[in-house]
This record gives sequence, C-alpha cells and structure tokens, in this order.
Amino acid sequence: MITERLRARTPHSAAESMPRAAAIIRAGGLVAFPTETVYGLGASAFDAPAVARIFEAKGRPTFDPLIVHIADRADLTHLFTEAALADPRIKLLADAFWPGALTIVAAARPEVPGLVRAGLETVGVRLPRHETALSLIRAAGTPIAAPSANRFGRLSPTTADHVLEQLDGRIDAVLLGEATDIGVESSVVALDGSGPARLLRHGGIPLEDLARALADHGGIVAAAPTAQPGVPLQSPGMTESHYAPMVPLVLATTAFPDGVAECALLAPDRATLTHLETLATAAGAKVHASVALSETLDPAAAAAHLFERLHELEAALISRAVPAARIIAAPYPEGGLGSAIADRLRRAAATPQ
Ligand code: TXA
Ligand code: MG
Repeated sequence: MITERLRARTPHSAAESMPRAAAIIRAGGLVAFPTETVYGLGASAFDAPAVARIFEAKGRPTFDPLIVHIADRADLTHLFTEAALADPRIKLLADAFWPGALTIVAAARPEVPGLVRAGLETVGVRLPRHETALSLIRAAGTPIAAPSANRFGRLSPTTADHVLEQLDGRIDAVLLGEATDIGVESSVVALDGSGPARLLRHGGIPLEDLARALADHGGIVAAAPTAQPGVPLQSPGMTESHYAPMVPLVLATTAFPDGVAECALLAPDRATLTHLETLATAAGAKVHASVALSETLDPAAAAAHLFERLHELEAALISRAVPAARIIAAPYPEGGLGSAIADRLRRAAATPQ
C-alpha cells in the first residue's frame, strides 16, 4: 500500500486535501492526522471493519480500547447512553476542557462497535482543539476512532515524520498539518459509576485542574499508575511497558545505574543534565547525546518536545550502532503537567528488556 501524503499546513492546502482524506475515511480507510496532543490514526468509528484495520496497522492487541473523536458536542448522543448523559459532570467537564486534551469515558450505546470499546461497557470520547482534526471529522461526517499513530508500544508521534517512520505503507494517508503543541496524550477520566470520577491516564489536562472543576461533584481520584499484583488494570491500555523507545530507557532515580558503558542522557532541566553528565563521566560511561527537556523546569515546553527528544536520542544511539546502549533519564518532578511527563518516562522505563 502506498501512503498518500496530504498537505494541510495552510488553510488553502487543507481545503484541497480534506475532501480526499474524508473520502478515504468514509470508504473504510485509515488516515493519520495531527491533534493538539499527538498524531492520531483515524477510521470511521461506526465502521467495525475499518476499526479492525487500525489494530492491524498498529499491531495493537484488541484488549486496548480506542478514543472516539467528535467535532460537535451533539455527537455525544450517538456514543454515550441517555443515563450516562444525565450525569452533570459530563457538561461540566466539556464546558471546562473541550475542545481540548481531555477524554471522557462513560457508558457506551450498544451501537458503538465492540472493537472500539475493546468489549467494555464504556467508550472514551474526546473533542479535540486542533483545526485539522476538527476539519477531518466534519468533512468525514462521522465520529473518528483514533489511537495515537504509532506501532503498538512504541513512542507516540508528534510529527508526520514520526508517523511515517512507523506506519508508512501500512495506512492509506497522512495529513501533514500544523504540529502538535501539547505533546503528550489526553488525560483520560472515567465517569462510570456512582463514585468519584477516576483519572485513568495523566495527560494534557493536569489532575489539579480536573480536581478543581469537579470539587463540588465528588472530586476525582487517580487510578493506580501501573498494574498492581492481583488488581485488574482499570484502563486496559495502560500496560506498564508503553511509550517505549527501541533503546532501553533506565530511570536514574538515586545514583547512575551500574554497568552502563554507552548512553544518551535526558534530564528535566539544564542543571540536572549537568549533574547527570558528571555522574556518567564518574561511572566511566561514554555519553553519545544529551538533552535537557527545557533550560529551567517548564513542564509545558518539556511535554511539547518529550517524544521528539526521545525519538532523537533513540536515533542517535541506533545510527551509531552502539550495542548495549541505554537512554538514562532523570525522573521528572510530579505535579501539574509534570505528572504526565513523569508517567511517560516511568512507562518507557518499564519495557521488558
Ligand atoms: O491524546 C490522545 O488521547 C490521542 C489523540 C490521538 O487523541 N489518542 C490516544 O489514544 O492517546 P491511545 O489509543 O494511544 O490511548 C487511548 C487510551 C487507551 O489505551 C486506554 O488506556 C484509554 O485511552 N481508554 C480508551 N477507552 C477507554 C475505555 N472505554 N475505558 C478505559 N480506558 C479507555
Ligand atoms: Mg498510544
């Protein structure tokens, strides 16, 4: 299959590309498109065979549910049950954070294909803010199911090049639009019971902001960040090893890890990076590349470039063919958007090696 490159960076090129992209979606094909968080890999949400092709292209296990993207809040009536829609927290969250980096999980109408929901009774829905994503959904005339546009378990894509590196030849088209600006995926909030809302995934909307919005409506609790022995995963896609670079990543929580001879370094800020470089030198490790996510701690800037920097470090070590090399990362401080970055680094480090 040849993956079509559809230009959509200017309003003019977007207007030319959108009918083609929409036609591919309506015909059951796959189109990757930018959103404000990361690139998504879209298919018509109510077309089960099209949705099945997403799982095939990504190599994604079918126990991992997809997020359905809408351009208009009225489309919620096709996705959530009437009972779910009666929950006042949906309007509250949508008013506060849509369009934007929030996915709401609630009881699904039976018409939502089982594959989209991974067989669950619930479905996750997001109304993105990115103009290209919104135009595509409107032009296609249907909600679009879209996971991040990466091979399963690999780094999420924040540029069209990242998408093509992993999926060229496996999908019908990619829309080359404005870059993503948040850089980490949406926050996923479940409203699926009588209890408080549950944060299933840290993401673009900080937990503190969600807690403030829900303060008079039972608040919000954060689900366990990783699998606990004997406790089923609250969100099936949140397997520990996720967002994994092809070079193993090790979190340097206290000291520099033992036995690393060749490495690339990643730190939250310049001062921590300098410290990490000193530790690496003292440990006798050769440093091939090093990156500070921002000069001084700035979670928004750090999130925006997190996956891009990880892609670069991965590429630096792979291109030099350094065997047994590691990416050594200093942990990101928790709080606000920092929690989403800390979470992605923890998961990248949990890759089975
Ligand atoms: O920012 C984003 O959310 C991006 C862009 C493309 O919108 N999408 C994205 O999708 O990150 P994906 O497939 O990589 O992650 C979706 C995750 C699932 O792995 C799962 O953890 C959670 O969202 N999820 C979706 N539907 C769910 C449901 N019904 N119940 C529990 N968790 C769900
Ligand atoms: Mg993903």
